[in-house]
Amino acid sequence: MKLRYAPTELDEHRARWVRRSGNIVSMACDDQPDANASRRLETSGLDALSRRLGPPTSRLSVAAATLVVLTWIVLSIAVMVAELLSVADSIAVPLGVIMVLCIVTSLALGVAALVEHARVPQLRGLAQAIFAVVVSGAELMIILHAYFSGFIGPHGRRLRVRGRPVLARVRARASERPSCPSGHRATVASLDEVDRAALRDYWTWVAREEHASITAFERLAVALRERGAPRSLIVGAQMAAQQEADHAARCFALASAYAGQSLEPCALVVEDTGTPTLVTLALEALIDGCLGEGSSAAEAALLVGGGDTAKAVHDTLVVIARDEAEHAALSWAVLEWCLAVGGAPVHVAVKRTLAALAPRAKPTGLTDPSASQRAHGMATGVERDAAWRAAHDVTVTRASALLGHAISRAA
Ligand SMILES: [Fe+2]
Ligand SMILES: [Fe+2]
Repeated sequence: MKLRYAPTELDEHRARWVRRSGNIVSMACDDQPDANASRRLETSGLDALSRRLGPPTSRLSVAAATLVVLTWIVLSIAVMVAELLSVADSIAVPLGVIMVLCIVTSLALGVAALVEHARVPQLRGLAQAIFAVVVSGAELMIILHAYFSGFIGPHGRRLRVRGRPVLARVRARASERPSCPSGHRATVASLDEVDRAALRDYWTWVAREEHASITAFERLAVALRERGAPRSLIVGAQMAAQQEADHAARCFALASAYAGQSLEPCALVVEDTGTPTLVTLALEALIDGCLGEGSSAAEAALLVGGGDTAKAVHDTLVVIARDEAEHAALSWAVLEWCLAVGGAPVHVAVKRTLAALAPRAKPTGLTDPSASQRAHGMATGVERDAAWRAAHDVTVTRASALLGHAISRAA
């Protein structure tokens, strides 16, 4: 076979391109010059492109690292825009699903690249693969921790800063263990170490949430005053703050008894984010008050009604069940007022949020409590879910009716 350098006129620009890339395939056979040249040029073009992109392992690494960075940038922007538009709560679920899918995908790509690196050792792309696996793995752990952290959700109104719940840290106090306001201390003598540790963690968490609720209601009272709400709502929020202080004291007393040392909250420094909009007030009333505190009241009532509860715990649950029901009622009044004066923006936000409310309680990732833990106030998964479902159904039915009424009045 005789070879000669003979790119056709049609292939000339491709031949030059191939020659510039250092290939010698710009030679054609005499018998089928055009076909062979084109085929070889095609092959050469793919090879050159392949060299530019790197080996398959490198491509996986670049894709994984790029997805990690893009996920972070795009979702950060989306969250900022959602908060500016006061729709963060409405889109939290779909945004979370998208974020988890992106992170899992980048983690899978990164792991696949590392596997390839182990099979065919090479340095190119290794740094990107490690970066993707470490960052997406850490993000996934943080998300799972956030999702499963907390025992049973809010006990008292949540304190939110830029939409995110805030809690105070806890420290041991050197002074005498605080006594429970009801005059009873939790009896811990019959509990083993495992039960005491579980109850210490549980009641410490509840106490932190009750403590945060004090500030939440104080801020609500100020916000309602600045927004020109009726005096009854402002006074109701102020009274609720006092009741949450009582809940926090009771719960810290219980937690201290199980811990064997006096526990107290650290100072809670909360950023001033200005007066919340009517949309924010309405959504916090709906989610944290009507549903959250409604669920807490229902759960405490279930525990009280279940009998066989330690005296100090029983007394605390009775107070919490009564007060949280009052707080939920206050939130219904706040929501109704926001719907009446907030107009279309509030109507739209409430409608979207209602459609996205979780019908089931957030899973804890924990096993059900032992009989001793149950007797000291830890609800079972079934009880927790029943309380949430009850509050959810009431919330959806009643809020839908309020929304329909507000829209018809505005029309
Ligand atoms: Fe409370
Ligand atoms: Fe409350």
